[in-house]
Amino acid sequence: MHRPEIYELLAREHEELDELFHELLAAKGKLAAGLLTRVRLKLVPHSRAEEAVFYLRLQDDERTAEKVRVGLAEHRQVEALLDELLAMSPRDDNWAARARVLADMVGRHVDEEEGELFPLAKRVLDPQEAQRLAAAFETERDRVWEYILGEQRGAA
Ligand SMILES: [Fe+2]
Repeated sequence: MHRPEIYELLAREHEELDELFHELLAAKGKLAAGLLTRVRLKLVPHSRAEEAVFYLRLQDDERTAEKVRVGLAEHRQVEALLDELLAMSPRDDNWAARARVLADMVGRHVDEEEGELFPLAKRVLDPQEAQRLAAAFETERDRVWEYILGEQRGAA
């Protein structure tokens, strides 16, 4: 059985997010609002689990600590902008511009993570640990996903 390392799982989800953002930027009105909800349901569990499993392990190693610190700050910025957009109507004049800023912000963050943090993390984690972190990531991501879904149902 293929036991993926954490990088593979994260990169796959980054790809899925990128596709969702493409759809989001092309959408309007109700469709855009629905897609933004899907972005949230994919992005928040992903980044929270990334923090709880991947960043937590790397934040105390001097080779990766700085990149983790920057990554955490970017996660906060992304979630703040996501919340701002969720509170707006897609009919708002600024909506499309803010959605574009969010998509670009996430794109840059992902490029940094994959291009800078992953190569450093591979020096810190041996393959077995990277596989264990992948399993822990999935468990935590699914837990947050359930929570967010419950929250969305409660709000609807
Ligand atoms: Fe991230």
